[in-house]
Amino acid sequence: MRENRSSKTALDVLAARAVNTIAPQGLRVIQDRYAAGFLPAHWFPAKIYFRLAETFPVLYWLPRLIAKQVGIGADMLIALRHRFIDEHLLHHYRDGIRQVVLLGAGYDSRALRFRYPGLRFIEIDHPMTQRRKVRLMGSSGFPEHDALYFIPVDFTEDWLKTVADSGLIRQEPTLFIWEGVSYYLPCEAVAYTLEGVKNLTPPGSSLVFDFFPRELANENTGDVHMKRVQRYGAARGEHFLWGCDRDDIHGILCGHGFKNIRTTSIREFADHLNETHNMKIPVHAIFAYMILAQADF
Ligand SMILES: C[S@@+](CC[C@H](N)C(=O)[O-])C[C@H]1O[C@@H](n2cnc3c(N)ncnc32)[C@H](O)[C@@H]1O
Repeated sequence: MRENRSSKTALDVLAARAVNTIAPQGLRVIQDRYAAGFLPAHWFPAKIYFRLAETFPVLYWLPRLIAKQVGIGADMLIALRHRFIDEHLLHHYRDGIRQVVLLGAGYDSRALRFRYPGLRFIEIDHPMTQRRKVRLMGSSGFPEHDALYFIPVDFTEDWLKTVADSGLIRQEPTLFIWEGVSYYLPCEAVAYTLEGVKNLTPPGSSLVFDFFPRELANENTGDVHMKRVQRYGAARGEHFLWGCDRDDIHGILCGHGFKNIRTTSIREFADHLNETHNMKIPVHAIFAYMILAQADF
């Protein structure tokens, strides 16, 4: 991503969460009531629209249509991966985890939505994106948080030292969340991040993240859908640089010392929600994966 400005894709995924938050039952998979608050000031008509949609759910369909026409129609994918991670955060909290580290946090509002006793959040992100978020959170509309910490870094640099020097990460089992980031990083930065998770905390920590197929990083792909997604990234100035096939991810994570690795496709997760929660999520053209791994070194 460009050094001199905050992430545009972070705003897009935020908008997708705001849209899903106003979805009717059966399609609503997340409830991110802080999402609209992070939208830029000049998006104020959208903010008003989202407020109105709380009362008139039918308004959901217009932004959904727009997302399909002008975007890549990935709003459901984004909502689903967020729900997947929310569920695991809850699960880990019940298991006793009290520290969450968000790698490439963007406008993630989990620190606000999961204000649970004893739970602390550390958000690590690009300085430009983080600066904008911190500024917004200082304004009205956001509750104060006494257990949320920020560390600005560039993942393409030697960022582990900055994080370690900050002294903010406690040596206790931790949940690392790396959502919507891996594919924007060069291969070496992905490997460095996986090593980082290993080096930052003691055994008992976990990592959850999403990834796209290797083909997405292939500039010469003949896959029309991948090309469309690549064009989206290029238009945002945030190119897709890394991808991995489902069969290969296990070996990569094992190579970094992870254990108990579980991969789920977003489609499988949607099927699961449809079956167990009586949802009606459309699952075609969703090609992302979620991975859960234990950092038991
Ligand atoms: C698509 S956004 C996802 C944000 C958030 N995790 C979410 O799901 O809402 C990508 C995030 O990765 C961060 N990012 C991308 N490249 C980065 C880099 N080289 N160094 C630090 N952060 C980076 C951006 O600042 C942004 O917050």
